[in-house]
Amino acid sequence: MGFKVLVLLFGGALAMSAAEPRDLKVFFQRTCAACHGPDGSGRGSSGQKLPGRALSDARWQSKEKDSDLAKSILKGKGGMPAFQAQLSQAEVEQLVAEVIRPLAARKK
Ligand code: HEC
Repeated sequence: MGFKVLVLLFGGALAMSAAEPRDLKVFFQRTCAACHGPDGSGRGSSGQKLPGRALSDARWQSKEKDSDLAKSILKGKGGMPAFQAQLSQAEVEQLVAEVIRPLAARKK
């Protein structure tokens, strides 16, 4: 195998990892579900009340703007820690649109 082939393979792997979007559903399960529940209901898998609010509440969601939710996630709010060290503004907007909004749609 020549040097050129190696360079091509390595370059390809780099390009792929750069283009690969972070899986925000996985991020939610790893980072947010501990307080908000795996389904965003604010309850754990055995129905126990968790510290985070119910994110799947459709009535509550309908009163909240994307920008307010994004700000709370980035900066924190009350008992909610800030996530600006772990998530970019764009990732938070994507998280709101693709993970948090669908939680309500799925519920009621
Ligand atoms: C340590 C527990 C904890 C973790 C971890 C946590 N939250 Fe929260 N979250 C809370 C609490 C408590 C509130 C209610 C805050 C309030 O209204 O005072 C909240 C509120 C929220 C709100 C509503 C904010 C608003 O403007 O009313 C959103 C959206 C949210 N969390 C998303 C997330 C996301 C996304 C993650 C993961 C990146 C996450 N939370 C991780 C505890 C947590």
